[in-house]
Amino acid sequence: MAFPQSFLDELLARSDIVDVVGSYVSLTRKGSNLFGLCPFHSEKTGSFSVSPDKQIYYCFGCKKGGGVVNFIMEEENLSFPDAVRFLAKRAGLEVPEEEGDREAGRRRQRLLDLNRDAARFYYRLLQQPEGQAVRDYLDRRKIRRATTVNFGMGASPDAWDALLNAMTAQGYTKAELLTAGLIVDNKRGGFYDKFRNRLMLPVIDTRGDVVAFGSRVLDKSEPKYMNSSETPVYSKRRVLYGLNLAKKSKRPNIILCEGNLDIVTLHQAGFDNAVASMGTALTAEQIRLLSRFTKELVLCYDNDNAGKIATERALQLLNGSEFSVKVLQLPRRRTEDGELVKQDADDFIKNQGPAAFERLLSGSENGVEFRMAQIAGKYDLENDEARVAYSGEISQLLATLPNEVEREIYATRAANAARITPEAMKIDVERARKQRLRKENRAELRKNLNPAAQSQPKERSLRYDNLRSARAEEGVLRLLLLDEGLFPPQPPLKEEDFSSPLLGRVFTLLWQAKEEGRGAALPALAGELTPEEMNHVTAVCQRPESVRNGRQALADYIRVIQAEKRSGSQEDPLLAAAEKYKDKKGEKRNVK
Ligand code: CTP
Ligand code: MN
Repeated sequence: MAFPQSFLDELLARSDIVDVVGSYVSLTRKGSNLFGLCPFHSEKTGSFSVSPDKQIYYCFGCKKGGGVVNFIMEEENLSFPDAVRFLAKRAGLEVPEEEGDREAGRRRQRLLDLNRDAARFYYRLLQQPEGQAVRDYLDRRKIRRATTVNFGMGASPDAWDALLNAMTAQGYTKAELLTAGLIVDNKRGGFYDKFRNRLMLPVIDTRGDVVAFGSRVLDKSEPKYMNSSETPVYSKRRVLYGLNLAKKSKRPNIILCEGNLDIVTLHQAGFDNAVASMGTALTAEQIRLLSRFTKELVLCYDNDNAGKIATERALQLLNGSEFSVKVLQLPRRRTEDGELVKQDADDFIKNQGPAAFERLLSGSENGVEFRMAQIAGKYDLENDEARVAYSGEISQLLATLPNEVEREIYATRAANAARITPEAMKIDVERARKQRLRKENRAELRKNLNPAAQSQPKERSLRYDNLRSARAEEGVLRLLLLDEGLFPPQPPLKEEDFSSPLLGRVFTLLWQAKEEGRGAALPALAGELTPEEMNHVTAVCQRPESVRNGRQALADYIRVIQAEKRSGSQEDPLLAAAEKYKDKKGEKRNVK
């Protein structure tokens, strides 16, 4: 995938980083840079900087950085080409698509068309005689006709090739049906419909495209739910069932449930802000998606062990995010035999009615209350030893709350539950909090003292084999970005002279841009580097560098790089000694 360079240059020229970032983050000027609260991690003081001169952003906290395209990639969760298209739309520029991209785009659109036509086929069938079994099932579950229309539900017939025949008659190929996950290869040269005799639930994304299907059997057979596999138009990590409807809700929050039919029942009962992650744990991508529509989430997972684990996991994932999170716990229900059983949202609405759900919703606990109840459930608070352990664990939990008033309120509540004096509980909490802060400070200090250990880069290209040379190479890049005029007409270094392949590659790319008269600048490299590489290079280039003695500095850097290259080509004596020592130790162990 490549856009013409002239188009990218025009796009960058028309997408000023201050304008673009400024529409997401409120920025204030400090010196030559602007600062604000980082949109990529949670913080109270602004470590996020934007440089209008270099047209880059960089966060000193989470160390993310890059140009305007990287910002959109990160913030809108888009690939490089999609971020470019996003910015082009914003700047009112038309995107020149390559033949290959147009082809990929067409194939994607074909799959979406196929899904839509398949959904129409299932939808029509639901109204016809073949749909009787599914209609009966919907009646049993008290799902009304208008609701089935709202969700575009359908029926897959009890046949092996009904969809296959209908779609091939409409001009779709078997290959397309396979890619869409609508038919299955029987390994003997034949194909059959994946979904048969099921209630069909199209999965519709926030753009209104049918991207996949969920489905449910009509009896007790297995598998109860069968969903589309991943396809070029469907990644289950990025989609939430019902969000196409919930995004239009007037309610202030979004309710997250486990099951598709929970969503259907909730919407039918007036809770049109419910969505489901369709049997998978909540993902970071889904959270990002949700953040476009609300800042308040209500977790409504099943009241069983699996549901509690899912709740805890979601709370962890949402910890430190911009969301306020509540947990709605559905009470268990006593059966006629006196047994306590779990209810999901669907059961609850059917047993207790919408008004009761509304009460649960307004009274739902926040994440702290949920966790406190979980801890309390583990201990027998009549037992002294257990009460000590309980208060220790509660203190650890409450120590994580930044707000003092909150700490005090919950400490008092926890103390009452365990019949401890609130004062003693508060002292425990504050002690745990101080310990925690000390630990955090120490970790921070260690990080600052030892930059090499700050974050062990996962990508091979981010590791420096020769630190001394790499520091000089970084300096060369900074000078090139600051003032091309410091450099001679011929490149003073070749790519192979760089000990860091990444820095070498960046140098070549920047030099090329300079030669072509476009000017050496980082933002144009968004399509050439991975986001991690870009973070690293931005970190390198935002560090101060003086042009005052630029020519001298450049000469010094080049000397260091060349000297290191010469000595590096011979065997490193220290390294050789270390290798030998390692071998000896190995021998000794073997002897013993
Ligand atoms: N699920 C799935 N595959 C399964 C079982 C479940 O994808 N084999 C997903 C479905 O999205 C389902 C959700 O997990 O809606 C919750 O499953 P479960 O609690 O078993 O079912 P319910 O939602 O209660 O389904 P129903 O009320 O229809 O029995
Ligand atoms: Mn259910």
